[in-house]
Amino acid sequence: MVHIKDRAIARHSRIMSVGVYRPAREVPNSEIIEAIDSSDEWIKERSGIHSRRIAGDDESVVSMSVAAARTALTDAGISAEQLGAVICATVTYPFQTPSAATDIAMQLGAPKVPAFDISAACAGFCYGVGLASDMVRGGSADYVLLIGVEKLSDFTDPTDRGTAFIFADGAGAVVIGPSAEPGIGPTIWGSDATARDAIMMEPSWVDLRDPDSLGWPDIKMQGQTVFRWAVYQMAPVAQEALAAAGISAQELDAFIPHQANERIIDAMAKAMDLPTEVAIARDIRTSGNTSAASIPLAMDTLYRQGQIKSGDTALLIGFGAGLVYAAQVVQLP
Ligand code: COA
Repeated sequence: MVHIKDRAIARHSRIMSVGVYRPAREVPNSEIIEAIDSSDEWIKERSGIHSRRIAGDDESVVSMSVAAARTALTDAGISAEQLGAVICATVTYPFQTPSAATDIAMQLGAPKVPAFDISAACAGFCYGVGLASDMVRGGSADYVLLIGVEKLSDFTDPTDRGTAFIFADGAGAVVIGPSAEPGIGPTIWGSDATARDAIMMEPSWVDLRDPDSLGWPDIKMQGQTVFRWAVYQMAPVAQEALAAAGISAQELDAFIPHQANERIIDAMAKAMDLPTEVAIARDIRTSGNTSAASIPLAMDTLYRQGQIKSGDTALLIGFGAGLVYAAQVVQLP
């Protein structure tokens, strides 16, 4: 029998840095309400959103990613040539192929690095953290650049009452690399694919060829189905991630969930009985729901607010279209 040589690396991983890009244009609720017959009060009360950032024509999935990635690389002290992989989590890169990650890698000056996109919607960042961590631990890469990015404004119907006020744009990037101590706990992940029609981008690209097609693909969402699923199913997943990492809620410094709706964040924190000292990310108030970008963006905001510091322990959880979810405990960079 032929002997296949394998990398016998068993080491730990950690998040080394985080960088973000927020589009320049801030859009308050007042700019959105007319098209959806809503009000500033209703949006704040039902979602927690006061304003969001919407990218301009000169701000693309790739340009936002490159800007966030440059900060993450500088802060990690890693050059683009040292990267072992570039992973981009997004559902709004407007080309089916080649991937956004290859363009990002090229623009960062690393056109030879393995690069690919993952499609796990609002769970994309946490799927990516699990994937990158296993790549580092298994030896397939020393340093992985993971980006969560969305330009949801390209795929949101500004007249849809159920989505127009929720979705927004932005990018967040982290470098994940080797560590002497475990810096990323086990990822608890999965899907509830029987509810995959709860959030859909429709019609398909192929349907667009039909002259009677419904038109440009936008995200359609059964808001209440998603809301109930998140509120009742996601707290147990978060608790499983804590248990898998051997951490109690009392030992946590921060809870950084996907920013879908502030009421979902509150319900999860309550269900997990989080102590009041745990910093809870509420970046949704000024960033809206940026899907794969929401967790690194929320992390950055907690730093800027002085609510977290390097070395703190945080629980991350992402959940969204699929329906898919992933959670893990991490040491903050
Ligand atoms: N502005 C004002 N009123 C609105 C409205 C809007 N944009 N959208 C709906 N309404 C009205 C409805 O007509 C309804 O009125 P009625 O009671 O007179 O019939 C009422 O508000 C409640 O509608 P409902 O659809 O039940 O709202 P909701 O409380 O479920 O809130 C969401 C809507 C979208 C905020 C909420 O369902 C949600 O956050 N879902 C999860 C979204 C999410 O996280 N998505 C991303 C997944 S990662």
